[in-house]
Amino acid sequence: MSRASQAAVFHRLTGRHKVEIETPCLCLDLPRFEANLAQVAATVRTAGKGWRPHAKCHKSPEIAARMILHGAIGITCSKVSEAEVFAGAGIHEILIAHLPVGAGRIQRLAELCQSAASGQSPTPIVTCDHYVQAAALSEECVRRSVTCRVLVEINVGMNRTGVRPGRDSRELARGIERLPGLRLAGIMGYEGHVMDMTVAEEKRHAIDAALGILAHTSDLFRQNGLCCEIVSAGGTGSLRQALRSLDRSSGRSCRFWRPLLCANA
Ligand SMILES: Cc1ncc(COP(=O)(O)O)c(C=O)c1O
Repeated sequence: MSRASQAAVFHRLTGRHKVEIETPCLCLDLPRFEANLAQVAATVRTAGKGWRPHAKCHKSPEIAARMILHGAIGITCSKVSEAEVFAGAGIHEILIAHLPVGAGRIQRLAELCQSAASGQSPTPIVTCDHYVQAAALSEECVRRSVTCRVLVEINVGMNRTGVRPGRDSRELARGIERLPGLRLAGIMGYEGHVMDMTVAEEKRHAIDAALGILAHTSDLFRQNGLCCEIVSAGGTGSLRQALRSLDRSSGRSCRFWRPLLCANA
């Protein structure tokens, strides 16, 4: 749907009672949505961090653009196909929090880097937890004469993805640093395993433990001369504690966080 027809639909539906709306339809209480945005943006800004909200649940360039108006430095998404939509809508600071696997996706990612570079926009950032993925992306980026920024994904306890902290993460980072067409930019971890913990004290400890792993890893990188300008973590269910936790354990500023805001639809 073109932006003009999207806008027409938006205006036709705005203010209607819910029984008048054909489903499925994403509905937002706009004043509450804006208030939530302002609150999260202020919280992250006060902590001196960058906010890169995850777009996986709304998948909407319109919502992402509003987040950026409120001060988000960019967005996070899970897949290249999502990143293509956001880039096509003019949102260029994009973190893809998984390294795409398979020749087709790698090609599309390199293509995204190429169109960003030709429009003089920042190229996307991707995360990586295996050298084989990095090598395939490097080859494609070299073929197209572009550079893709890469974060090493660290397993901070969720045991879903991510390389082990310590020696494994350092060796992967060294490997990435040597690959042409890639630029090592830092690390990312996602403490998704703590999000639905209900006992506050337990959750606090779990977040501290997960982000302590990230803090140690960023120390390790810097001690070994490995670039760690970005340390990315956080989610809606861990935002406040995560902002405090990484500060306390590392005493350093971390530029990119990616909590997803609750839109309270
Ligand atoms: C890697 C990663 N980062 C961030 C998020 C966003 O978390 P939330 O929706 O809690 O903000 C997710 C959600 O699954 C994720 O997989």
